[in-house]
Amino acid sequence: MQQEGCVIVTGAAGNLGRATVGLLAAQGLRLFCVDRTREALDDLLRSLPADAEASPFVAQNLGDPLFAQAMADAAVTRYGGIDALVNTVGGFATGPVGSQTLDQWELMMTLNARVALLTSIAVLPVMQAAHYGRIVHIAAAPGLKAGANQAAYAASKAAVMRLTESLAAEHRRHRITANCILPGTIDTPQNRAAMPDAKVSDWVAPEAIARLIAFLISPQAAVVTGGAIPATGLE
Ligand SMILES: NC(=O)c1ccc[n+]([C@@H]2O[C@H](COP(=O)([O-])OP(=O)(O)OC[C@H]3O[C@@H](n4cnc5c(N)ncnc54)[C@H](OP(=O)(O)O)[C@@H]3O)[C@@H](O)[C@H]2O)c1
Repeated sequence: MQQEGCVIVTGAAGNLGRATVGLLAAQGLRLFCVDRTREALDDLLRSLPADAEASPFVAQNLGDPLFAQAMADAAVTRYGGIDALVNTVGGFATGPVGSQTLDQWELMMTLNARVALLTSIAVLPVMQAAHYGRIVHIAAAPGLKAGANQAAYAASKAAVMRLTESLAAEHRRHRITANCILPGTIDTPQNRAAMPDAKVSDWVAPEAIARLIAFLISPQAAVVTGGAIPATGLE
């Protein structure tokens, strides 16, 4: 890893983002924590140990290329480089193909696919110049094969997977890896509220996915690229 540099975590104040920031901070990495509101970021930073090296950055909409570029520029100004991008921004929508689908499609394509594309575009020149980089996006199993009521979500996560594969193939020579993770249902407050009768013990802890992310962004993971890695096992 470069002497100077940082790990950008988008969606840093969300469920998976928060777990990832907590683990990476404990590992002593320099973190550039990106989310939509200053309040959410301040709350996140308060949860970290006093000696954690973490800077907040507010980007109200990473689906806008100006915000994505501003994020990368600010990370370079703050830390001199970008070792890794961990993009956890994403969303979920469900419903049969019909009159609601166009709105869902545009929302899912923005939150899942467009944010992954724009954040990748923003960090790539910095990583190319450094001849080093790690990119991790979060897809989902319906990106491999959709079930009923999943058209918009599944299509957007498939786009994340195809994007990741192209990034990996295009940047192998730059020593930049790109992978995506396919989590099972994550144990989150929102999922517990939405599925009160579900067997929560079958779900995946965000901290477990964070450990996979920590490996994928490490120098030791250089050989892993272009992957769509399931995160569905139980501990
Ligand atoms: N939860 C699951 O069971 C599950 C399963 C499979 C895959 N995944 C995927 O895993 C990833 C993380 O899920 P999660 O549960 O941690 O999500 P989450 O808690 O909703 O976190 C996402 C974060 O991104 C922020 N965000 C949303 N839209 C944004 C935008 N346009 N620009 C910048 N930031 C934005 C959110 O802010 P606000 O809260 O202010 O909107 C939130 O802080 C997502 O890609 C999700 O699709 C989740």
